Amino acid sequence: MKIWLDGALRDTEDARVSVFDHGLTVGDGVFETVKADRGRAFALTRHLERLATSARGLGLPEPDLDEVRRGCAAVLDANPMELGRLRITYTGGVSPLGSDRGDAGPTLVIAVSATTRRPDTTAAVTVPWTRNERGALAGLKTTSYGENVVALARAREQGASEALFANTAGALCEGTGSNVFVVLDGELHTPPLASGCLAGITRALTIAWAGAKETDLPLAALESAEEIFLTSTLRDVQAVTRIDGRQLPDAPGPVTAEAMRIFEREAAADSDPR
Ligand SMILES: Cc1ncc(COP(=O)(O)O)c(C=O)c1O
Repeated sequence: MKIWLDGALRDTEDARVSVFDHGLTVGDGVFETVKADRGRAFALTRHLERLATSARGLGLPEPDLDEVRRGCAAVLDANPMELGRLRITYTGGVSPLGSDRGDAGPTLVIAVSATTRRPDTTAAVTVPWTRNERGALAGLKTTSYGENVVALARAREQGASEALFANTAGALCEGTGSNVFVVLDGELHTPPLASGCLAGITRALTIAWAGAKETDLPLAALESAEEIFLTSTLRDVQAVTRIDGRQLPDAPGPVTAEAMRIFEREAAADSDPR
């Protein structure tokens, strides 16, 4: 396996970062997960733009997106695989032991691992913890994902693959690594960015391609929704068949099935939709 670290491709054994890296010690970093279909990164331009937005939000130096693009191409070339999870990680770099960032400069790592296509349907649960839509990191894709680790473990305990959060106001927000869409009275809705959810790339494409209203919804919308689906880089559009104890046996329902078809068609037609 070849990994891009600070400007060059390296073997896994040689791709080492310092134990003083601020990404490791305090989660001071940002990241992107990009789908790579037979070596071709999907929606890379949008992912790079979001990486830069997240870096700015965290106060990291502006990433050199030409280098990131070169690194992605080099890693994909060096590690051929059918379906890959391409991961870009950009951190505050070597720093003192504390929340102050050092001046050694950022760390950039690009790695890929093989993955398999997700099932068309899955189960999700709600969790009692909230997303903080007013937090300093709201809407940023940072490596401070401890809350997602805990919530996803709770979902796994209940035989589900995703945990859904409300925000501090009790509004439906997002999953640990996905956005959520619901069908109410035949209409497709997803929470607005003001809910504190990540500006998911699959979410934005699904809104543009399948049409969905951005609507402030209570968490309880999950109890009355006729259909529910999740979107993310590796899920694309994925129907929910069970939410907590409630079964949605006909999933994917008609609106979800149509969104899945449209997403597949449009993504196949353009691998870097702007
Ligand atoms: C918290 C969170 N919300 C939503 C998403 C979905 O975003 P995308 O469609 O860009 O993968 C992710 C990414 O995996 C995420 O980490």
